[in-house]
Amino acid sequence: MRIYQPILSSFSTVVLLYISVVTAGAPGGSRQLLFSPDNPITVPPYLIFENVRLERAYVALQAWKRAIISDPWNLTSNWFGSRVCDYNGVVCSLSLDDPSIKTVSGVDLNHGDIAGHFPEELGLLTDIALFHVNSNRFCGTLPIGFSQLSLLFELDLSNNRFAGKFPEVVIGLPKLKYLDLRYNEFEGALPESLFDKDLDALFLNSNRFVSKIPVNMGNSPVSVLVLASNRFEGCLPTSFGNMGKTLNEIILMDNGLQSCLPNDMGLLQNVTVLDISYNWLVGELPESMGKMENLEVLNVERNMLSGVIPEELCLLENLRDFRYGSNYFTGEPFTCRSLENYNNTMNCLKDEREQRSMMECKVFLSRPIDCDSYKCSPVTPCYSPPPPQISPLPPPPALAPSPTPPPLSPPPPARPCPPIYSPPPPPPQLPPSDQQPAAQSPQKNSSLSPSIN
Ligand SMILES: *[C@@H]1O[C@H](CO)[C@@H](O)[C@H](O)[C@H]1NC(C)=O
Ligand SMILES: *[C@@H]1O[C@H](CO)[C@@H](O)[C@H](O)[C@H]1NC(C)=O
Ligand SMILES: *[C@@H]1O[C@H](CO)[C@@H](O)[C@H](O)[C@H]1NC(C)=O
Ligand SMILES: *[C@@H]1O[C@H](CO)[C@@H](O)[C@H](O)[C@H]1NC(C)=O
Repeated sequence: MRIYQPILSSFSTVVLLYISVVTAGAPGGSRQLLFSPDNPITVPPYLIFENVRLERAYVALQAWKRAIISDPWNLTSNWFGSRVCDYNGVVCSLSLDDPSIKTVSGVDLNHGDIAGHFPEELGLLTDIALFHVNSNRFCGTLPIGFSQLSLLFELDLSNNRFAGKFPEVVIGLPKLKYLDLRYNEFEGALPESLFDKDLDALFLNSNRFVSKIPVNMGNSPVSVLVLASNRFEGCLPTSFGNMGKTLNEIILMDNGLQSCLPNDMGLLQNVTVLDISYNWLVGELPESMGKMENLEVLNVERNMLSGVIPEELCLLENLRDFRYGSNYFTGEPFTCRSLENYNNTMNCLKDEREQRSMMECKVFLSRPIDCDSYKCSPVTPCYSPPPPQISPLPPPPALAPSPTPPPLSPPPPARPCPPIYSPPPPPPQLPPSDQQPAAQSPQKNSSLSPSIN
């Protein structure tokens, strides 16, 4: 009858069964338990599970429930017993590698308003593809156990209270395509490896990231990239144009970017929405932007751009919304005025209303802009060591003694890092942080708000 009982009852804490799932580096490296050994989740011997993976999910979910300190909608109140597929917010489906069993394939606790943290045991949910917990009050950071989630495809942690450095554990998730960390309190720099990852959508807006945008940004195959409302500084990476084949929507507004725009912006042929407003960008709009055939919404307002707006830009067939107010433009082709929406206020346009004073324009425009002085590096970065690899599983046991490894090929030649240069002097006025950004980009504010599904 109780087939499992003899086995299970011989362990006072069944969690010992799972200790074999360890996160370890090289053989002989330090072995780290997936969960706190001092207070493990125990599986009561009377619980019977359809299969061992559901039993592991039980351990994960019980550990999570224990780490929750507030659940105002009582979402986790039915999280007990062996029928984990009936728990609120838990989705099961047939396992990909074994269609004869049901496993936990998703978690959806969106808008749960739950407070707590993520325990290491979440790494036991090895069959999940979707993990959606937007609009809760989870804090802390992602446990290393997340490295076990090798099928995870969509990770939505938006609108929570996660903090600390960028959670590098996500870089190692092989199937991850959709990463949404917006509206949290992550800080520091972004790892370069993030932009070499095969993601489809990346939302990092409204965190506390402070750094340059990695120079390899252009390697990213994403269709949507939102870095708005952080404190990214320095150059708009010159690799930007490389994203032409895949990039659809990019929002960099409300940061501290300070450089000219790359000349090959016109390569961004698939971009429909480009928002670089509320930065410190200088120079002219590159003429090549007139080739951004799919462009519909362009917002460059509140920068320090100057020169004449390229006529071809306003002739773009799909362009319907172009905001370029609060810059230092001196010329505007007539074609811009026939756009559905445009805003040209507070520039240096002759005979237009609501422009800057002549004095202000004269002072600003008397200083030539030298794009080279921003020293935006060419596409290849100087050599930096790769980030530490998080390889959770021990390597498979060797079947035969391994042959002597071939000699390591020499590391790539290190391009010397350019000397540290001092940034250009701060601009005379208009600190973006002093002004509240306008209500995001007009038609497309969905990328900026916490996701809702
Ligand atoms: C949640 O459960 C508590 C205790 O049973 C109850 O007082 C409260 O009204 C419940 N909240 C909701 C939103 O159902
Ligand atoms: C990108 O643009 C090209 C040229 O306009 C078009 O052929 C292609 O289908 C577009 N790709 C996507 C993914 O939109
Ligand atoms: C143009 O944008 C500014 C803010 O940058 C705003 O104050 C102004 O009302 C806008 N003008 C029009 C005509 O929309
Ligand atoms: C954008 O935001 C406004 C105000 O918050 C809202 O009314 C509108 O529906 C939003 N548009 C989209 C496309 O989400």
